[in-house]
Amino acid sequence: LRIAVLFGGRSAEHEVSLMSARNAVAALDRTRYEIVPIGIARDGRWMLVDLEDGELPKAIPVSGTQVALIPGGRGRAVTIAADGRQGLLPAIDLIFPVLHGPFGEDGTVQGYAETADVAYVGCGVAASAVAMDKALAKRLLVAEGIAVARAIGLHAGDAYSSETILESLGLPVFVKPARQGSSVGVSRVDSLDALQAALNEAFRHDDKVLIEEFVQAREIECSVLEDAKGQLTVSRPGEIIPAASHGFYSYDAKYVDAGGAVVEAPAKLSEEVIAEAKDMAARAFRALDCAGMARVDFFLRADGSLMINEINTIPGFTNISMYAKALAADGIAYGQVVETLIAHALK
Ligand code: DAL
Ligand code: MG
Repeated sequence: LRIAVLFGGRSAEHEVSLMSARNAVAALDRTRYEIVPIGIARDGRWMLVDLEDGELPKAIPVSGTQVALIPGGRGRAVTIAADGRQGLLPAIDLIFPVLHGPFGEDGTVQGYAETADVAYVGCGVAASAVAMDKALAKRLLVAEGIAVARAIGLHAGDAYSSETILESLGLPVFVKPARQGSSVGVSRVDSLDALQAALNEAFRHDDKVLIEEFVQAREIECSVLEDAKGQLTVSRPGEIIPAASHGFYSYDAKYVDAGGAVVEAPAKLSEEVIAEAKDMAARAFRALDCAGMARVDFFLRADGSLMINEINTIPGFTNISMYAKALAADGIAYGQVVETLIAHALK
């Protein structure tokens, strides 16, 4: 089976994807799968890259052989070498997108795979697009009867009053680009004066932003894995404990500062909370029409109530990421996760 692993990408989570993809590739059984690594450069070009000692390279070359899938080509792809010479790749059986954020996790690459008529791992076009958009995802979750943090959405150019927003949501608030991951562009705002700068920062990343109430809570996360028969396995929740110095689980706390957060799986929780989180995670997965995998992130308040913060359709596979850790804590090894995802994609 020839598996094209897609990694890198145009989003601000390019580097995170490189870390995730190295682990995903390491988990693939080479005796059964031939890996075709395709690195997506920051400018969006698909570059054919070589494994180095069986591992993905640490960066994507910006010159070399480009790849383009043929529409309706069942996985056949054209290659264009740096000197302009063209060729064909042996057909790819499956695409494994290990891409985070816009242009990869948001349905665009999934739509490209559909157009090329090639199977791919994970969620389809609609679920990917909706889960990427925190404002749209909240609406579907609310319709499902799932609690979410209150938020006000703004499009670039909308008129708004900072006073009215903060009267409604209180302080602090979190300002987030609607469609980003890894907390890129996210700020915590503790005063009226700081709101404008936070909005400017979020609008640098998206033309739609969310101002969200602060929820005093523990952050717990469940991994959902769907097998080829459509059965869901939901892990017990793990917990993210950000270091006090970071204030919240920011990009730096995630990937830059090794001591930025502690990831604990399983989390120390009552049986009741575990059961409720698992049930909500499964309902959310279905409500957004997810497929294959997703990580469902929660806020757990001191009174025991749960809210869903967000759903990640291509959760991080980095060394500190929860998706694989929470499943491993339930006895499902990384290799088995990858096998299940592949079987689900090929069904
Ligand atoms: N967006 C990052 C990779 C995550 O949710 O794990
Ligand atoms: Mg995320």
